[in-house]
Amino acid sequence: MSLDKELRKQAYEAVERETIKVQEDTFFPGFHLAPPTGLLNDPNGWIQWKGIYHLFFQWMPFKTGHGAKFWGHFSSENLTDWTLEPIALTPGDWYDKNGCYSGSAIIDDNKMKLFYTGNVKDEHGQRESYQCLAESADGITFTKKGVQVELPEVYTPHFRDPKVWKHGGRWYMVIGAQTKDEKGAVALLESTDLTEWTNRGTISHANHSPLTNFGYMWECPDVFQLDGKEILLFSPQGLEADGIQFNNTYQSGYVIGELDYEAASFDHGTFKEIDHGFEFYAPQTTEDEKGRRILFGWMGVPDQQEFEQPTIQNGWVHQMTLPRELRLVDGCLHQLPLPEMKDLRTEKTYDGPVKDRYAGFIARTVEVQLKGRVKRLELFGNMTLTYEPDKRLLTLERPNYANGKPEARSSILSADLYSLQLYIDHSSLEIFANDGESVFTSRMFAKPENHSLYVEVDGSVEMSIWTLKNKTVAYTNDQDELK
Ligand code: FRU
Repeated sequence: MSLDKELRKQAYEAVERETIKVQEDTFFPGFHLAPPTGLLNDPNGWIQWKGIYHLFFQWMPFKTGHGAKFWGHFSSENLTDWTLEPIALTPGDWYDKNGCYSGSAIIDDNKMKLFYTGNVKDEHGQRESYQCLAESADGITFTKKGVQVELPEVYTPHFRDPKVWKHGGRWYMVIGAQTKDEKGAVALLESTDLTEWTNRGTISHANHSPLTNFGYMWECPDVFQLDGKEILLFSPQGLEADGIQFNNTYQSGYVIGELDYEAASFDHGTFKEIDHGFEFYAPQTTEDEKGRRILFGWMGVPDQQEFEQPTIQNGWVHQMTLPRELRLVDGCLHQLPLPEMKDLRTEKTYDGPVKDRYAGFIARTVEVQLKGRVKRLELFGNMTLTYEPDKRLLTLERPNYANGKPEARSSILSADLYSLQLYIDHSSLEIFANDGESVFTSRMFAKPENHSLYVEVDGSVEMSIWTLKNKTVAYTNDQDELK
C-alpha cells in the first residue's frame, strides 16, 4: 500500500473508532464542525461550488497535537447539515512531507484547485516552504500537481497560507510572510494562467503606516472587497497586550483601504481585532453563490494552553466557529449569524419579556436572543457577560480552564447595548452583540450537568430561547477510495 493510502486508512480507522465515543461526549459539539479524533486548526479551501459548500481544515488525525497536517474536508448543501468527506490532502511528498499547511480553493477550468503550503523540515531541522497545487474534477478526490511558487529571497522560510482570487481577468495570491529582519508581512503574487506566478512585492508589513512594529509573522492573509473597499484579514503574531486589545496569545483582525493592483501597493488604515473572545484565530472567507462574504474561524489559538483543554483526554481538540456573514458598517466589519442557522432550531422554549431578572434552565445546544439592555448574564455557572453602560463596555469572564483563575476579555460598543444573540454548543459560546458589531468566540468547559441561565436587565428586555439540533455532522467516511 502506498504511503498516501496507508495514512488515509489509519485516519479512517481512527474516525470510525472515535465517532461512537464522541456521541456520548458532553463536550463534543452538536452543531459545530469538529472531527471526532485528533486536532483541528485553520479553516482551509472554503468555497461553494455547484451549490455545495466545501470547508477543508487543518487536521492531525492521529494525536491531539500539531505535526504533519492533513487537509480534512466537510461538505454541506445547506450550511447546517455537514458530511465528513474523504481526506483531501495527505502529507508525504518531498515538498509537503511535514505537512500540507493552510491554503485556499478556487474554481477554474471546471476544476477545483487547492493552493496550499508544503511544509518541510530539512535534515538539520530547518524549515522549507513550498506553495503547491492540487486539483479535482469532482471536488472530492484531489491530485497533487506539485510546487508552483518558490520562496522569494526577501523573506525567511516563514512563508505560507496562500489565498488566491481573481480580479480584472488576472489571478492574485497573498501569502503570509516574514521579512529577513523578522517582521510580519504579506506578499502579493500575480498570474495570468495560474501556472506562472510573478512576485509583485510586499503589500503590507509590520511597519507599513499606520502600523508600527506590528508582529514578527503574519499568518493566513485573506484579501476581499466589500462595498468598494479592500479588506486584508490576517493573523499577526508577536503583538503585546494593550489594555483590552490583543489579550490572546496571537490575534486576528483586519485593515481596510485601497489596493492598487497596478502598483502593488495597499493604502490602508489601522488594525482592528475581529473577535473579542478567548478562542479565535486564522479566519478565512469566501463569496458564496448568493454573493455573501462568509467567514469561518478556528475556535482555538496556537500555543494558548491548547493542550490543557479537557477534551484532550477524549482524544480530540478544537472546533470551527459557525459560518458568519461579513458586512462593512461605518468602517468596521460586523459578523452576523447566517439566516440558515434558523434551521437549527427545534423548539422555542421561551418567548416574552424579562423584567429585572430571569433564572431558568436551558439545554446544552441553544440559541438565546435578547433585545434591550442586558446588565448581566450568567451561563452554566461558568461564563459571565456584564455590560457597563457608562463605558459601553461588554466583558466576558470565565475561570481559566487550566488553573481556575478568573480571566476576562472586553470590547467597547459604538452605541448602547441593544441586542445580544448567543449560540451555545456544549463547550462553546459565540456572542453577537448589537447585530454583530462585537463578537466574542470562546470555548466553555462548564460542568456538563449545569444547565442554568441567569439574566439581569435594565427595565424590560424581550427574550427568545430555542433549543438547537444536536449532532448535525455525519462522519460517514466511506473507505471505498482505498480499494
Ligand atoms: C495558523 C497556522 C498556519 C499554518 C497552519 C499549520 O494556525 O500556523 O500559518 O499554515 O497553522 O497547521
